[in-house]
Amino acid sequence: MSDGLDPFPWYAHMRDTKPVDRNPDRGFCQVFLYEDVERVLSEHSAFSSQMHGGSAISASIIGQDPPLHSRLRALVTQAFTPKAVARLEPRIRAIVTSLLDRVLPKGEMELVADFAYPLPATVIAELLGIPASDQARFKQWSDSIVGGGAGPMTFQQAQQEMGTYFHQIMQERLREPGEDLLSGLLVAEVQGRRLEPMELLGFCILLLVAGHETTTNLVANTVLCFGEYPEVAEQVRKTPESLPSVIEEVLRYRSPVQVMFRTARQDCQVSGYEIHKGDRVAAWIGSANRDEMQFPDADRFLADRCPNRHLAFGHGIHFCIGAPLARLEARVALELLLDRCRNLHIAPGFTVEPVESTVVFGPRALPVRFSPA
Ligand code: HEM
Repeated sequence: MSDGLDPFPWYAHMRDTKPVDRNPDRGFCQVFLYEDVERVLSEHSAFSSQMHGGSAISASIIGQDPPLHSRLRALVTQAFTPKAVARLEPRIRAIVTSLLDRVLPKGEMELVADFAYPLPATVIAELLGIPASDQARFKQWSDSIVGGGAGPMTFQQAQQEMGTYFHQIMQERLREPGEDLLSGLLVAEVQGRRLEPMELLGFCILLLVAGHETTTNLVANTVLCFGEYPEVAEQVRKTPESLPSVIEEVLRYRSPVQVMFRTARQDCQVSGYEIHKGDRVAAWIGSANRDEMQFPDADRFLADRCPNRHLAFGHGIHFCIGAPLARLEARVALELLLDRCRNLHIAPGFTVEPVESTVVFGPRALPVRFSPA
């Protein structure tokens, strides 16, 4: 089984010995090679994204196949264009600056709780037009959703509470529309059709979870990589223009989302192995991104790796809608962090514990020390 902190030796073992691992009793199958993960994620005619159960997330785009998926995607991209995202940069800079202002005089912080978490959480709350004062509740809900109900609340409870919460906010926005994403989504139309309330709710919950749990780990995982490769941090400080390619390598080397799931629509063969209709298929993104067949010297962090066709944001029609936003937030956060916190390092003697989740990958906490610039 995978070790939450270091699943990479297990992935390498599976790629070498059982690249397609099927458990017939459980109707469950896992794929580990780059080409198989890419195929399972993108071949939607053979591998469905539909999930069981009538949850709001399963009603959202991430849980749909064409033609419904295409319609939902067209609707939400209207309100989520790269141009709209680029306009957020000054606000993201301001949020990062104020988070750093708070911790700078102390010379230390808990990077996840003080920095990597509040940034994307604030950005997504503002995008959706939700009061920042409700952020503590969001964290509880989204932790229960990615942790599969571990913690104080069950998965169902979290979905239910979020449902009630968003229902109320939507009623307010319908009465009094604002400039926010939610107000835009309420009136967006494709071929004369608007989003159904359940689809809209699913999208809000998906955005909230995606905006809370993934970018946080991208920022924290970058600082872990700096700990492992101090020369990379030094290089980025001297040449901030190298940061985008460093972030791409972090996405490959420590992918914030390690696995995505599909259901086989028919019997088929993957790399010569049988997969049966109805099998649940786990596509291990974290393993694909370490596959030597695609990435020479895959277990080494290469700051200027090129080409770097990692699958961290998925592949095909479900490719992450938030990728431009995640890249922008990470770039601004890391640029200012390195610029203002000199000699940034992980607190000596600290043992890293992983986030409690099969899907999301990163440190639960990361105390760091630095000298204010
Ligand atoms: C580093 C940060 C992020 C990573 C690693 C990531 C990863 C992914 C992956 C792997 C998928 C594909 C799912 C599949 O194939 O089933 C995906 C889809 C998606 N992501 Fe992200 N994500 C990130 C940030 C974000 C952010 C910030 C948002 C929104 C604010 C977002 C919104 C979405 C949405 C809406 C989808 C569904 C797209 C569809 O089904 O068509 N993500 N993401």
